[in-house]
Amino acid sequence: MSDGTGPPHQFRGVTEKRMDRILIRGGNRLNGEIPISGAKNAGLPLMVASLLSDEPLILDYIPHLADISQLAEILGVLGVRIALDGNGGAEAASGRTLILTAREIADTTAPYDLVRKMRASFFVLGPLLARSGKAKVSLPGGCAIGPRPVDFHIKGLEALGATIHLEEGYVIAQANDGLTGGHYRFPHVSVGATENVMMAASLAKGETLLENCAIEPEVTDLAHCLIAMGAKIEGLGTRTLRIEGQPRLHGARHSVLPDRIETGTYAMTVAAVGGEVELVGARKELINAVIPILESMGVHITETNRGVHVSRNGAHLEPVDVTTDPYPGFPTDLQAQLMALVCQAKGVSHITETIFENRFMHVPELARMGADIRVEGQTAIVTGVERLKGAPVMATDLRASVGLVLAGLAAEGETIVNRVYHLDRGFERLEEKLGRCGASIERVKV
Ligand code: EPZ
Repeated sequence: MSDGTGPPHQFRGVTEKRMDRILIRGGNRLNGEIPISGAKNAGLPLMVASLLSDEPLILDYIPHLADISQLAEILGVLGVRIALDGNGGAEAASGRTLILTAREIADTTAPYDLVRKMRASFFVLGPLLARSGKAKVSLPGGCAIGPRPVDFHIKGLEALGATIHLEEGYVIAQANDGLTGGHYRFPHVSVGATENVMMAASLAKGETLLENCAIEPEVTDLAHCLIAMGAKIEGLGTRTLRIEGQPRLHGARHSVLPDRIETGTYAMTVAAVGGEVELVGARKELINAVIPILESMGVHITETNRGVHVSRNGAHLEPVDVTTDPYPGFPTDLQAQLMALVCQAKGVSHITETIFENRFMHVPELARMGADIRVEGQTAIVTGVERLKGAPVMATDLRASVGLVLAGLAAEGETIVNRVYHLDRGFERLEEKLGRCGASIERVKV
């Protein structure tokens, strides 16, 4: 175990690999098994929840990712002591255990330099405010997939009695006598805003009613952890949450749920290249929106006692029409991967993105690999080609990057994916997991 203030040294290496590239030689089928990691988008808010208690929060199955390291750095600045326990090496297949203890809040300011690197760090606003009565958190700014405002986070916290104003790019929030229960209806479903306000309401005085909440499994996972910490939350998995605020929360131990986006990504990769792979540790019900789509394309998916088995043998892929939606709909975080997949389907597919305004940056890169894609508004019309051709490509966000890896594995010839740091943000040991199943994929250090 390492012990100390701020992130342990084991975190540091991940962010140093910014300029590496991934070299892929396409055409190999995949056979074997791939372990599924803990979900990044559950692990991040769960780590933030440590701010709500002065006792240790033990989180099992935390993936080894750049975003996790980045958040550890921010939490360290705020006063969270972080220790790494157990299966802790970078090679650990079953995730790592983090022990996060916020005995005291050392600082209530989350500075721009740290927040701008990762939006999820904005989630510290609610917990800091609930615990300390004040918080100053940089606005995260725009990002590659769209403007991504934080107005629902702010309005939700105002409904709990916070006074909030913006000053020089910072959100400055105060609740001198603590937060009080309130009523807020999210104008649109937002994963992060639901998480932020739910965490804050857990420590407010009195009852909070939140309507039109996100019901993504990662939100529910966070709610389970908060309940283990002593929070009183009703309505898990529904759009209405009722939270009876508690004077304090205590320590707890919680295991992060498996990553449904990683699960879906590898299922689509098998669909693209053919073969048979067991996704060990995956939970089939988390990809219910994906299964019928892949099945209609000609992919076989079954549940096993260890996870999910995916296979495709021989036959061509059928085209599909898919629209992204909040959970339980088809996830926006799998849209780029699906698009890469249908590039080789036999016919015309339509993929409509409804969550983020600018999440088609992979389209020109796929076109460089020979894909036939026309974008009309929020819909990409993809006419399948016989075979994609390898090319050097580059993407500007995490899911787009892995979509290009998928395309490279299916393509003829060699593909180089630049800006690997995007992949390191969200896919644990990607090239090792795929390589063990027969993919020709390697990291080239620059
Ligand atoms: C979470 O982002 C995920 N990130 C995203 O994953 C995911 O794509 C997204 O949910 C949708 O599923 C984490 O969980 C850390 P939202 P979040 O608030 O919470 C608008 C990945 O690749 N909105 O549900 O930021 C917003 O602009 C990432 O892992 C407002 O207008 O997403 C968007 O159009 C990318 N005002 C929509 O709501 C607000 O205050 C949904 O966003 C908040 C959101």
